[in-house]
Amino acid sequence: SDPLPFYGEHQAGIVTPAQDRLHFVSFDVITKKRDELIDMLQEWTASAARMTQGKDSGTFGAVGGAIEAPPDDTGEALGLPASGLTITIGFGPSLFDDRFGLAAKKPGALADLPKFPGEDLLPEISGGDICVQACAHDPQVAVHAVRNLARIGFGKVSVRWSQLGFGRTSSTSRAQSTARNLMGFKDGTNNLKLEDASMLKQQLWVAPGDGPAWMSGGSYMVTRKIRMNIETWDRTSLSEQQQIFGRDKGEGAPLGKKHEFDELDFAAKNPDGTPVIAIDAHVRLAHPSTHGNAHLLRRGYNYVDGSDGLGRLDAGLFFIAYQRDPRKQFVPVQMELSRKDPLNEYIKHVSSGLFACPPGLRDAGDYWGRTLF
Ligand code: HEM
Repeated sequence: SDPLPFYGEHQAGIVTPAQDRLHFVSFDVITKKRDELIDMLQEWTASAARMTQGKDSGTFGAVGGAIEAPPDDTGEALGLPASGLTITIGFGPSLFDDRFGLAAKKPGALADLPKFPGEDLLPEISGGDICVQACAHDPQVAVHAVRNLARIGFGKVSVRWSQLGFGRTSSTSRAQSTARNLMGFKDGTNNLKLEDASMLKQQLWVAPGDGPAWMSGGSYMVTRKIRMNIETWDRTSLSEQQQIFGRDKGEGAPLGKKHEFDELDFAAKNPDGTPVIAIDAHVRLAHPSTHGNAHLLRRGYNYVDGSDGLGRLDAGLFFIAYQRDPRKQFVPVQMELSRKDPLNEYIKHVSSGLFACPPGLRDAGDYWGRTLF
């Protein structure tokens, strides 16, 4: 497949039809010098522009430079195509402390997320100053991208945490079929999609006047690593599993309906008067009609980080959602879910991230952060 465009009004990797693989990384900035940080962001942008087109990270490449010097590309993607690679950057709340003179530019929408009932966040895999989401159809290509940015950032940033993901759990385009999460359900049926231009404008992209001008055309990203208690789930009856989500497992249709994309009918009753879609079904609690028409663009991935030494898979969902303002979108939805969702018996949120993803890059003279610095 052809390389995806790197330049545009919005960053690639948000409405881009979700690729199969993810390597997500969060960095802490360790340099104290603003100029060094800007230089690094410029170098990152040039490298990302090349890698997303299937080229080496640097202009000499893995084997084209001086034999005495470390190569400006690490080499493991030599001979591989671009594989749909997109690289998307975001700035975390902690970047806006007084280290780089950015405090006055911190958007209100980047306020720390509240504490949600039941979460068990590990600080060492949460937060961070700058994140990079690399998505591709080939995991080697996504890993190569992150690794080379980390290489370029040596001495200026350090990797705080990173996450590999496989098997997209969302479709972000009507041209894609809906994939399944590790609970076996189709995930992403009622998602914001690339084709819904007016919804994206209303729900996804930051508009002029929303906050500081530098975020115009950008979007806010929330990440949550959600561990699943797979073994308990696998001992739950099919009927209970379907009740929890409010959809059937095979087709992904709303309970009481036949087809995946049939409308949810929250008013439908069983002969005994109980609702067909339970009052606390996941799709009812998360539905825009429960939250003043708040939508999310979900773009998460399954993960399996091996096993936990106790005979259980260390597995779950690396949830990623984009939106215009998390205070009106992710936060109220997650507050409702964390209080009422019966799914909570089978999951635990173990990491959290919030990032402001700036608008897209105009051309080769532009760089990530130009609108901010
Ligand atoms: C819908 C699974 C966590 C927000 C769904 C659906 C499934 C699902 C199977 C129905 C298909 C669809 O429309 O996509 C899960 C699993 C989760 C999880 C397994 C955790 C491991 C979350 C979280 C949020 C969220 C943390 C946001 C805070 C939504 C929304 C919908 C949805 C907005 C669409 C509801 C609608 O409009 O019909 N989820 N989800 N989910 N989920 Fe989740």
